[in-house]
Amino acid sequence: MTCSSDSTKQISVIGGGYVGLVTAACLADLGHMVTLIDIDEEKIRAINAARSPVAESGLNELLAKNLGKNLIASSDYESVKRSYLSIICVNTPATQTGSADLSSIEAACLSLGHALRCNSGDHVVVTKSTVPPGTTESLIQPLVLRTSGRSDKNTIFLSNPEFLREGSAISDFMSPDRIIAGSNNDASSEIISWLYAGISAPVMFTSVKTAEMSKYVTNAFLATKISFSNEIGNVCKRLGIDVYEVMQCVGMDHRISPHFFNAGVGFGGACFPKDIRALISLAEESGETSRLLQAVMDINRTQPYRIVHQLENEFGGLAGKRIALLGLAFKAATDDIRESRAIPIIQAFLEKGAVLVGYDPLAMENMKKLFPEIDYVKSSSDALQGADACIVLTESPEFAALNGEFDQMNTRMIIEGRRILQTKEKQGICW
Ligand code: UDX
Repeated sequence: MTCSSDSTKQISVIGGGYVGLVTAACLADLGHMVTLIDIDEEKIRAINAARSPVAESGLNELLAKNLGKNLIASSDYESVKRSYLSIICVNTPATQTGSADLSSIEAACLSLGHALRCNSGDHVVVTKSTVPPGTTESLIQPLVLRTSGRSDKNTIFLSNPEFLREGSAISDFMSPDRIIAGSNNDASSEIISWLYAGISAPVMFTSVKTAEMSKYVTNAFLATKISFSNEIGNVCKRLGIDVYEVMQCVGMDHRISPHFFNAGVGFGGACFPKDIRALISLAEESGETSRLLQAVMDINRTQPYRIVHQLENEFGGLAGKRIALLGLAFKAATDDIRESRAIPIIQAFLEKGAVLVGYDPLAMENMKKLFPEIDYVKSSSDALQGADACIVLTESPEFAALNGEFDQMNTRMIIEGRRILQTKEKQGICW
């Protein structure tokens, strides 16, 4: 191993997944010298050719703008030897019990620590991955210090959770509601000012554990708002009241806020379900039972089946019925199908013998891997041809514009899982 003495303030971002990629591209765009590290060589090749492995609006353009200037992707940890700051952005998926799987964090810390043996300058280790409170102090810090042979005198540890939404991740990074910096080091204020120079946002300095916990709690509260709206929506539908109007009235109270009250088929994605399960598991480990969060998950689990039952009641059975599914991703403007509400719906329809035709502007290739038996078509219009029913599951503007296309259906039975359609004669899942 050769050690370099170049100690310019470079940044290494570890993990080329969604968060790491957006973080690296945005920091480079802010003017930092950034190396993105991922062990997957194929991914690195794609990124260096300005082809993002994930579909995210504006990301390919941002990569193209900064690659070869102040951004590069690499499959080795060489850049860490010359870096002032490393950002850990590896994934922390759920284990069988729902707790966070920290094996990628451990692997990243070992590689980081090993590379830091050749870095004698001050170094900052920032954790953006979502980790249970206490992880930085009990796992990341000791592992990096032990592997690198460094001391905590010249190695600073900071928790800086991300709040990036898929589809708007770049603007979320550049214009955050707040920056949370958890550290017990006095230099953290200076580090955050340098790292986020050019971004205007309030900064909240906290203990490391508080910063780690705040990420879980943010996602848990947002998910609670959604399940709350869905439960109210289910009641409102029975009472003939429009839940969207109700939540608009409720959200005007400044203590509540109008956001994340869109009732519908429930939440999916890589973060909410995983983080809430992890928080439930954390509560249990600490000797508490999280009854509220369990209810949030339970409402979310059963909500999609309402569409299946609605249709079953209309038709008296689903065997042989041709159903057009519009929107397969967990939300609009992404190819991500993780925890998509379309998955339990497809499973239930298939079990009941329905014939499914699926369309999504971005996510069909991913859904094909999970359900190859569905007929995937090139447009909403193709999906609607001869369909006995249509189910709309994402808020894609493409679906909002549909109108005359519904005339091609065999029976005009349209159920929306997200309130998006303008056309007449449709039903809502809970409105
Ligand atoms: C989320 C968080 O918002 C982000 O801060 C975090 O860091 C990562 O997880 P994301 O998963 O990209 O981001 O999606 P988001 O836009 O938050 O939506 C999550 C799910 O909730 C989607 O399935 C969406 O359709 C659903 N949702 C959202 C609702 O059902 N109703 C709403 O009012 C809002």
